[in-house]
Amino acid sequence: MNGKINKGDNLKIMKKIQDNYVDSCISDFPYWLEFMGKYWDKGSPYEWTLPRAKELYRIIKPGGYVLIFGHPKTNHRMKCAFEDVGFQIVDEIDWLYMTGFPKNQDIGKLFDKRAGVEREIIGFVPTSKGIRPDSHNLIGDKWEHKGHPITVPTTELAKQWDGWKTAGLKPAKEPITIFQKPLEGTYCDNIEKYGCGGMNIDACRIPTDDKLVRPSIQRFDNEVYGKGLGAGIQVEPEGRFPMNIITLDESIWFSKYANPFPQWTDQELSKKTQTKEKTLTDGTKNTHPTVKPVELIKWLIKLVTPKDGVTIDIAAGSCTHGVACEELNKEGYSLKWCNIEMDEDEKGNSLGYIDIGKKRLMQLFNT
Ligand SMILES: C[S@@+](CC[C@H](N)C(=O)[O-])C[C@H]1O[C@@H](n2cnc3c(N)ncnc32)[C@H](O)[C@@H]1O
Repeated sequence: MNGKINKGDNLKIMKKIQDNYVDSCISDFPYWLEFMGKYWDKGSPYEWTLPRAKELYRIIKPGGYVLIFGHPKTNHRMKCAFEDVGFQIVDEIDWLYMTGFPKNQDIGKLFDKRAGVEREIIGFVPTSKGIRPDSHNLIGDKWEHKGHPITVPTTELAKQWDGWKTAGLKPAKEPITIFQKPLEGTYCDNIEKYGCGGMNIDACRIPTDDKLVRPSIQRFDNEVYGKGLGAGIQVEPEGRFPMNIITLDESIWFSKYANPFPQWTDQELSKKTQTKEKTLTDGTKNTHPTVKPVELIKWLIKLVTPKDGVTIDIAAGSCTHGVACEELNKEGYSLKWCNIEMDEDEKGNSLGYIDIGKKRLMQLFNT
């Protein structure tokens, strides 16, 4: 294995890393929304990020990239902290996943609740198994079907505001901000000195069945044009230029966009994004609530990290970044990686994330 998992506060651990050592950081920070009541998801995005961004600025090489997952509600504060310590914002990728659930409350129901009145039940929302024939029948004093009840408004205000919801839409994307530490001199100067600064576009091209042609002048000897001169068409072999939206879900890609992961069918995709990360080969569950797809992290690493570069994740959770690096190393990369994870609840008890991460890495070497 070409990497290390470090347990502890990322701020303290980063202080042990030398200046200008790391080529890239890909991290899924807390979103500071107290997700599932998690202690590590509390706090203020700007105050949490500022000292960490400062340390990242010190350890990242000039021209190196930092990619941070964010939430539309808190992302801007995290971005300000990176900008304030000197990073430049290069772009923002939208990772589309489409499987989120809307969390809105029904305003009509809120009015009825406030008035303390019952709402009449007129049916039940069908379950994934479909509507049962008895779903609307009362058996004794109980509804036979335990689905979500469909009710009608009772009070005048509830009738008036029926269909209105509290703020927000169905979550279907997560932004990933791309920061860059400023270059020293030109791209050429910087890359020659530090070995990083560019984006590996060709390694991240989006495969497509469309015939892509890029008109260009090719120099070759030609009877008509003479020595070293000639017109030609160059075909791009590796696919489309990567966009600043990405998805693993084939069903989202209309015919004009190619699926970036065409080796997977729809069914395999849902297995890859849900089962592969969530269940280990020995049946152990990955209990981390915000696991990211390995394939997505691999694609991000490839985009901004030299093949033999040093890459870090300072909020590693169940070590998806480490797993992605080791999978890439099996595919011909020689990445060195470091994962930092606090792995603690508010009482200092282990959450088991690092143990899960270690197991995920071990299973890679046993397959
Ligand atoms: C959003 S999760 C990352 C999940 C990860 N992408 C995965 O696939 O498993 C963020 C992680 O950051 C960790 N964390 C929060 N504050 C930290 C700190 N100060 N130092 C190290 N890790 C921290 C949390 O324990 C949590 O596991």
